Amino acid sequence: MPPAIKIEGLTKRFGDNVVIERLDLTIQPGEVAVLQGPSGVGKSTLLRTLTYLEPFQAGRILLGELELSAGMDVRKERARIRAARRQTGFVFQFFNLFPHRTVLENLMLGPVQVLKLPLKQARAEALSLLERVGLAEKAGAYPAALSGGQQQRVGIARALAMHPRTVLFDEPTASLDPDMKQEMVQVIREFAKDKLTLLIVTHEPAVIESIATRVIKLGPRCAILSDQRNHVSG
Ligand SMILES: Nc1ncnc2c1ncn2[C@@H]1O[C@H](COP(=O)(O)OP(=O)(O)OP(=O)(O)O)[C@@H](O)[C@H]1O
Ligand SMILES: [Mg+2]
Repeated sequence: MPPAIKIEGLTKRFGDNVVIERLDLTIQPGEVAVLQGPSGVGKSTLLRTLTYLEPFQAGRILLGELELSAGMDVRKERARIRAARRQTGFVFQFFNLFPHRTVLENLMLGPVQVLKLPLKQARAEALSLLERVGLAEKAGAYPAALSGGQQQRVGIARALAMHPRTVLFDEPTASLDPDMKQEMVQVIREFAKDKLTLLIVTHEPAVIESIATRVIKLGPRCAILSDQRNHVSG
């Protein structure tokens, strides 16, 4: 099996600001890798380059067999970029659920419109995901009626509804109070048991100590300062 993510010689600048300089990093299928580093070092930018939400100046990124390269013609390669985004879920710190759609509709929209799943199947999958994140009873609610932690969990369920191979998390617990953090950690733990590859930017000790199989520390220009295997007790 090819690596889930293979980053080769990645360089990303904003004007003169070199945020990522010749980064090489490989993540294998099924790994749960945590990325850490000081604020402003480029963690969010790195996640964004992985699905070409940010273009980059040098290097290439392989997502399974899909290759994204510096300077590729975005218009010509639109289908490839779309495919990259389709196989890669993205959970942001601030969940951007559709406010005028119910929780269930939020989960069904992508699968029906993008994956072309039959309504019945999309609905069944959405309900089962809601069950897994502990929100089955909120299927008919609108996002505004949910707590932050609940919205965050819907965000995860929505990413998973797209059948991704890899899910990227950008500080999934940062905006949550301690109780909600715990719930979120449980949800991440639950999905880490699947064959999914997870790449998580977080400083949350519970995630690092008991879920991550690998912890990567980044320094200036996203240099890898340390890269450690974690023995997860389960
Ligand atoms: N759209 C943008 N335009 C210009 N500069 C940007 C842009 N996005 C990020 N940067 C710069 O890139 C650098 C890395 O930012 P990034 O948000 O990736 O850091 P981070 O490691 O995620 O920080 P934090 O831990 O605070 O979330 C910063 O210097 C930031 O100012
Ligand atoms: Mg960030």
